[in-house]
Amino acid sequence: MTTRGGGSLAPHGTLSGFYGSTEERARYVQGLFDRGAPEYNWVSRMMSLGTDRGYRRYALRRAGITAASRVLDVATGTGLVARAIMECGVPEESVVGLDPSRGMLEENRRSQRVRLVQGLGESLPFRDGRFDQVVMGYALRHVEDLGLLFGEFRRVLRPGGRVLILEISRPRSRWGCALLSFYMRRFFPVLARISGRSRVTGEMMDYYWATIAGCVPPERILEALAQAGLEQVRRATTGPVLSDYVAVRP
Ligand SMILES: C[S@@+](CC[C@H](N)C(=O)[O-])C[C@H]1O[C@@H](n2cnc3c(N)ncnc32)[C@H](O)[C@@H]1O
Repeated sequence: MTTRGGGSLAPHGTLSGFYGSTEERARYVQGLFDRGAPEYNWVSRMMSLGTDRGYRRYALRRAGITAASRVLDVATGTGLVARAIMECGVPEESVVGLDPSRGMLEENRRSQRVRLVQGLGESLPFRDGRFDQVVMGYALRHVEDLGLLFGEFRRVLRPGGRVLILEISRPRSRWGCALLSFYMRRFFPVLARISGRSRVTGEMMDYYWATIAGCVPPERILEALAQAGLEQVRRATTGPVLSDYVAVRP
């Protein structure tokens, strides 16, 4: 498999409050999602105030998904994006989900029958040109190298195929940042506790906030997509925090 990379770019620096060194990062992230898998769907719903399902569908339609698409859902987790893809009319046999976390994949298998593969976005185990669309939901901050990731997206897409990346971006205003930080790091863990969730939910929110606050800016992400050889690169925003990035393989 050959990857046309666009140079190396980590989505954020080492977060020493969570893991000791960059080498330990992937293991920490996988462990976090393994442990948090049973509560992940609750987290997604509560964090988005119940809008997560509709928003995933909306973004997929806006990115031009059609029932005839063969779609790869990178970082499929418990399958929320895969489910939205099928709600857009794509049959389950045309969808493949990939994720490194065994815990997330086990949760996923409980609710649907999409083909699932354990692996990393930075080294996709698929042949060149296999997909019409590659989608990644809320996982860009968790990979090691955006250059490798986007190179792999390009490689597995057919010419004319599209990338859609859903992400949470740091609000531009100081107040927006303070509010989101308070919501994720203070309010959400209390809500989780009184709703009978485990401590891992609070840890997950804390880690999310650290990765959002430390993430490279949207302009760098657009640049990295273009450097990986993708075209018509653009970002659309919904409200102060939701970004979706779209790009086309020439
Ligand atoms: C926040 S969850 C998102 C799950 C799902 N896409 C959604 O929209 O709900 C992030 C997922 O990224 C996965 N992940 C972490 N590192 C990854 C990597 N290097 N390549 C692919 N997926 C990764 C995690 O295991 C986890 O399932």
